[in-house]
Amino acid sequence: MMIGSVKRLAAVTAIAAAFAIAGGVAASRAEDAPAGDPVNGKRLYLADGCFECHGRAGQGGRFNYLTPALAQIALPVESFIAFLREAPNDMPSFSADVLSDKDAADIHAYLSSLPGRRDAKDIPPILNQ
Ligand code: HEC
Repeated sequence: MMIGSVKRLAAVTAIAAAFAIAGGVAASRAEDAPAGDPVNGKRLYLADGCFECHGRAGQGGRFNYLTPALAQIALPVESFIAFLREAPNDMPSFSADVLSDKDAADIHAYLSSLPGRRDAKDIPPILNQ
């Protein structure tokens, strides 16, 4: 019985060590990707006019037809940048001369940080007071 529990402890330790190693690998991968700067991203989102069509809070809006909401954007950053380079239909394209990959990634970080739509029940009922 003693021997059995020692063996089990050894197995648990080995599994924990394996997870620690896997975690370390995942963390170093995440560090490789340049982290976007949401503060600069907000500045660019306003300066480059994204807000005029997509709303100041990324809530979406209207330009000839409805423009999509961008808050909490689901597009991965690579697809986001590719989209900006050759935007379809009524969205103007933003070439790398106008908006670098780094700046585009910053805008992406800003959009990811936005809270998005709130449920009506989460909005304080100021109008009822
Ligand atoms: C003149 C209006 C206008 C401006 C300015 C504009 N967009 Fe758009 N955007 C659109 C329209 C319209 C669409 C929908 C395109 C379509 O028809 O598929 C769109 C689509 C998008 C999409 C795809 C979203 C989705 O869910 O499909 C992204 C991402 C996006 N815009 C980002 C940006 C960013 C970032 C900027 C600023 C650098 C910007 N847009 C500036 C009009 C605009």
